[in-house]
Amino acid sequence: MMPLKNNLQTKTGWEIIETSFNADQLSTTGSNFMIGNGYLGYRGTPAEWTAEQYVACIISDTYDAALEGWRELCNAPNGLFTALSLDGQALSLFEGQTHGYQRTLDMQHGRYQRSQTWESPSGGRIEIEVEKFASLANVHLLVMRYAFRPAQAALVQVTTGIDGKVWELNGEHFKNYQCFTQDGLIGVETTTREQNIQMDVVEGLKILGAEPQRTENVQTADSIFRRMSFALAAGQEVSLEKTVAIYTSNDGPAPRSQAAADVQDALKTNYETLKEVHQQRWAKIWQTADIKIAGHLEDQTITRFNLYQSIIATPRHADLPIGARGLSCQVYQGAAFWDQELFNLPMFLYTDPPIARSILKYRYDTLDGARQKARRLGYYGAFYAWTSGKTGEELFPDHFFTDVISGRKVRNHFNDWQIHISPDIVYAVWQYYLATGDWDFIVDYGAEIVFEVAQFLVSHVYFKKDKGRYEFIRLLGPDEYHENVDNDAFTNHMAQFALEKALTIDALIQRKAPEKREALLSCLGLDAKDIQNWQEIADLIYLPQPDAETRLVEQFDGYFKLEDARPEELRQRLVHPDEYWGWPNGVAVETQVLKQADVLQLFAVLNKFPADVIRANFDYYEPRTEHGSSLSPSVHSQMAGKAGYQQMAYSYFKQGATIDLYNASKKVNSGGSFLGGIHTAACGGTWLMLVQGFAGFTLDEDGIINLSPALPKHWEGLTFHLAVRGNGLEVCLTADSLRLSAEENNTAPLTVKAPGQVISLQPGETQMLPSTV
Ligand code: IFM
Repeated sequence: MMPLKNNLQTKTGWEIIETSFNADQLSTTGSNFMIGNGYLGYRGTPAEWTAEQYVACIISDTYDAALEGWRELCNAPNGLFTALSLDGQALSLFEGQTHGYQRTLDMQHGRYQRSQTWESPSGGRIEIEVEKFASLANVHLLVMRYAFRPAQAALVQVTTGIDGKVWELNGEHFKNYQCFTQDGLIGVETTTREQNIQMDVVEGLKILGAEPQRTENVQTADSIFRRMSFALAAGQEVSLEKTVAIYTSNDGPAPRSQAAADVQDALKTNYETLKEVHQQRWAKIWQTADIKIAGHLEDQTITRFNLYQSIIATPRHADLPIGARGLSCQVYQGAAFWDQELFNLPMFLYTDPPIARSILKYRYDTLDGARQKARRLGYYGAFYAWTSGKTGEELFPDHFFTDVISGRKVRNHFNDWQIHISPDIVYAVWQYYLATGDWDFIVDYGAEIVFEVAQFLVSHVYFKKDKGRYEFIRLLGPDEYHENVDNDAFTNHMAQFALEKALTIDALIQRKAPEKREALLSCLGLDAKDIQNWQEIADLIYLPQPDAETRLVEQFDGYFKLEDARPEELRQRLVHPDEYWGWPNGVAVETQVLKQADVLQLFAVLNKFPADVIRANFDYYEPRTEHGSSLSPSVHSQMAGKAGYQQMAYSYFKQGATIDLYNASKKVNSGGSFLGGIHTAACGGTWLMLVQGFAGFTLDEDGIINLSPALPKHWEGLTFHLAVRGNGLEVCLTADSLRLSAEENNTAPLTVKAPGQVISLQPGETQMLPSTV
């Protein structure tokens, strides 16, 4: 076994193994060891735990408000609850003695395992082994095998069933519980308070190894359990195989009968078969998603951890958002931010394009929400929600943080001033088109998104007469510590990018599908004058440029005049450790300290700034950045690499990729809000650091793959897969070679620009090149 940090270990780079239990890390390890399938996320908590220990099974597409202004995903009644007592004493990680404890996340197969021997306070011993998975073959199913074996003859009581008392961050979502039994199954049906979404959790059980002496069902207002006792001989093993199905009325018309039917079907199949089918799905996903790091097992493991978390956070059953905390808890309401397009999407773009399409189709489906938001705030076109659930209405509450000193709510303007979300989505649409060549998507959905965003930008921009240029004022850029700023460099450049792409797409569609263009323009009420506006603004918009001497790009108007402090100094000024550093009067507001990459973020997405500019700005902004956002380290890693700081690129890689696993750099509480859970942007950022950062991958507008690798010195190799315009490529890098293998079933040659050469790879061809010149 190879040790990782925080008492974690791995054997092969596919597992995270915890060998001692740390009660202080309940909220973090619950997220880290979770299983999921994009429909549901089930936290990696022991089966006997309850709401107090942050047990959760978060279900996609269940946005509901318990408190006004906080619509969020719901946490389903816990169908896997199972508690055991040995001769009347309850097995617990907090009492008695635990021997041989092991909690494992098997990322290759999407499985959670726990094993231990428990010694009760009176000295009896029992071994337990638990395994569970969230099926990828049927995303409504959770399957668990719970086996136990007393060391001595013993009376073992088990309570297993559906626990309706759930962990809620922002109030109770459920009303009208009905607990029921039906053909040997048990179930809890409930309805959400605001949206009246019906949810059914149905459980079926197989008992192997012994007949229970007694079985009874125990029901409370919101929960139903089976209670049974076994008189067991020493070493006699009992295995409980639980199958739980979850459906909501958003999935179809009859959630209860659908859930019951799925459980009955699953009970007819044996556990190993259910597991096998599930594992086959994982094997298929890993064929393109895996990234191999040779020569460093720890980095291999943390890489897979982030890829795994990205995969389970991403809905693949429907066009739904990827939450900023995935399905790991209710933080950030289970909703999507710009993280989705700039951090999560790229991995799918190049490893699983249908998922990337689904993410962007979701943005198309939420255009009406974006239009309504624009109108509500006095604009037109599409102003996408800062925090976006199913419909695209704005979910971000006006008061998110509290002043932890006074207890008063803080008004912030993330949702009304952080306008870059809209051009970011255009950026993503364009990246999707470049990567896939999916013109139909552009015609059917992309063009409408892009044109509506262009219209929003027209409605937001100001013409500054004295300067003869267009400007954006009253903004919040990626750096959230500075609100109400003008001409944020990132926002202005992204806005120009979006307008240019609106013009490009308009020209393309005019050429390739003129009738579709006519129909779209008329449906959106656009004419030639609107398109001229896009052109005029794209030409005359103020784009903060590198200073001729210092090469610095000012983050926003007046930024350089702010107090030039460093994060360490500001930390000394805090009155309370959980104080929010930003608006309206946090410690960073009047200083140059940034929450997260902003100008560097611009360089990370728009490949138009020369190396000396990247380096000068990295040198300036990096020491002033607090990394209060999990989005920041991955950008810093990529930009450190571009600036020529290989060691720093690696240390930011470590920081970004271990935010969750080592729980090292992110505070769980900020400004009075619990912000734990899986940071999915950091997970997607890990892919970016490896593929765009260390391998130096970019895709030209004409579909040419560029690679300019610079691997960390202690890695022997980095291997990953890219799908470009329907053709697959395996890239295998070592310190001095670059092996490129085009897939057998490619339909066209791939062109790759590697250091010093351009090559064309026919389907099935492999070429070996030097990695530097
Ligand atoms: O979108 C981010 C933002 O950039 C920083 N705060 C957290 C959000 C969700 O991850």
